[in-house]
Amino acid sequence: MTKTHTEPVRVMFVCLGNICRSPMAEGVFRHVVKEASLADRIEVDSSGTGAYHVGEPPHSGTRRILREHGIDYTHAAQVVTAAHFEHFDYLVAMDRDNLAHLQRMSHNGDAALSLLLDYVPDARKRDVPDPYYNGNFAEVYDLVLRGSQALLEHIVTERQLDGDTKTC
Ligand code: 4NP
Repeated sequence: MTKTHTEPVRVMFVCLGNICRSPMAEGVFRHVVKEASLADRIEVDSSGTGAYHVGEPPHSGTRRILREHGIDYTHAAQVVTAAHFEHFDYLVAMDRDNLAHLQRMSHNGDAALSLLLDYVPDARKRDVPDPYYNGNFAEVYDLVLRGSQALLEHIVTERQLDGDTKTC
């Protein structure tokens, strides 16, 4: 379906469990979008490719680091579905396994699929490492912040949005 220019741009971040990386990306991107005065133009959500933690709040490590950076955020974990592919314009995966999962679910005309760190020109990694296994939520925050800033610049250019991206 063709979307009119008055509809928001819709972005969903996707990881495995939807309790560590993609909710952190949702919280950080939402913050960056708000700082750029684009909160009414961009809708943000997150989901996971696995159903292990459906309904749970973000991991305590994600909640702590968002709190430390002054980002107020709550979320209940959900699994990515076919309906999300129709509703969202951008499905942004945290790592290549999640991207491959999305590619297997995708049909022509659905949301654009991408990797968050592919928006960062000088990124040394393509995958946001999973802190569920290594506990390094600070590294995830740094990567997600850089990815969010670069993704917003990409969307502002691609969708010709007028905001204030200089502040983020
Ligand atoms: P996330 O981390 O994909 O960043 O939310 C994980 C959370 C839970 C599991 C794996 C990764 N798990 O296997 O339960």
